[in-house]
Amino acid sequence: MTNLDRRELRKSLRAKRNALSAAQQQQAAALVSQQIQAILPAQDFCVATYLANDGEIDLAPTITACQQRGSVTLPVLHPFTGKHLLFQHYTGHTHMTFNRFGISEPAPDSTAIRLLSQHDLLLMPLVGFDAAGNRLGMGGGFYDRTLANVHHLAKRPVLVGVAHDCQQVEQLPVEAWDIPLDLIVTPTQIIRIS
Ligand SMILES: Nc1ncnc2c1ncn2[C@@H]1O[C@H](COP(=O)(O)OP(=O)(O)O)[C@@H](O)[C@H]1O
Ligand SMILES: [Mg+2]
Repeated sequence: MTNLDRRELRKSLRAKRNALSAAQQQQAAALVSQQIQAILPAQDFCVATYLANDGEIDLAPTITACQQRGSVTLPVLHPFTGKHLLFQHYTGHTHMTFNRFGISEPAPDSTAIRLLSQHDLLLMPLVGFDAAGNRLGMGGGFYDRTLANVHHLAKRPVLVGVAHDCQQVEQLPVEAWDIPLDLIVTPTQIIRIS
């Protein structure tokens, strides 16, 4: 598949999730939160989340539930490379700022940074997925770059894609740098990739 095909696929899948009603989005957010609570350890875990954008599943209920039992982080654009993500501890008191994409993220605080290896679970938004665990993102390659060496870590987080059921496609085109998911959570399914 060419770059153009990937672009077209992103466009049509983004249109699908943006067409969901507020009620559908709210229901999806609640169902996904329940699914994720069932996957997580009972307590003392660290989970990377995200703030929803562009019709992505809203993790607000998930974040609130997770903050009661463990710690939650949010991705922050890397201040030096601008092409990787860092993860910062996120609480009700975290000072927020807007990044260059206009997305809210924790203000830089080196003491709040949590390493990839400190996470139990990484929840990632996506534009498209297939049953083999392939992930199509918004096209920036941020998670791919950030996770490029994840399989070399002695301890690594479970990589979880969070998506509406309408984001599923039969088979995604895969590039050499794409990092596959371990698990996909939708409002109605938990897909474990073997
Ligand atoms: N590990 C990496 N090192 C350098 N560049 C990368 C890496 N992973 C992805 N990229 C770059 O990011 C761009 C977008 O990646 P792509 O997989 O198409 O986006 P997305 O994963 O957001 O759908 C690609 O052009 C690719 O060159
Ligand atoms: Mg990719």
